[in-house]
Amino acid sequence: MRRPGGAAGRRLVVAAALAVLAVCAAACGVGGEPPPEVPGGSPAKGRLLLSRYGCSSCHTVPGVEGADALVGPPLTAFGRRGYIAGQLPNSGPNLQRWIRKPSAVEPGTAMPDLGVTEQDARDIAAYLFTLD
Ligand code: HEC
Repeated sequence: MRRPGGAAGRRLVVAAALAVLAVCAAACGVGGEPPPEVPGGSPAKGRLLLSRYGCSSCHTVPGVEGADALVGPPLTAFGRRGYIAGQLPNSGPNLQRWIRKPSAVEPGTAMPDLGVTEQDARDIAAYLFTLD
């Protein structure tokens, strides 16, 4: 037995899915362009790495799913911050230094050294500098 509107219904579902994809491609994606502060970094990769390294379990980070913790300070508008952890003037190289080894910048800090690689720190810093 033929269900009413079977083919038309399927077409509608496909059209709806395509519409969602089109909107997401425009709005959900972080541009691949690195910010001027971190020329070699990929913000899109950095956003994924913020989850992968568990940064999101301590920090609120806009645009990173589930990153709403408040153990560490929120990283909102980080591109406009003057200082990193009250210690280093905020710049591309300094942010990468902090992400790779916070204990070397501020002995005794509650933020753990997470073994972030050089390239990963660059990508994460690139993403954080896109947050205005
Ligand atoms: C166990 C919790 C924890 C994890 C995991 C963690 N952080 Fe932090 N983070 C902190 C705390 C606490 C501070 C505040 C440190 C201070 O001021 O001494 C901080 C500070 C920072 C700051 C400076 C914030 C400011 O307002 O100046 C940045 C940037 C940062 N973290 C990025 C990251 C990134 C990137 C990761 C993942 C690679 C990460 N954190 C993982 C707890 C954490």
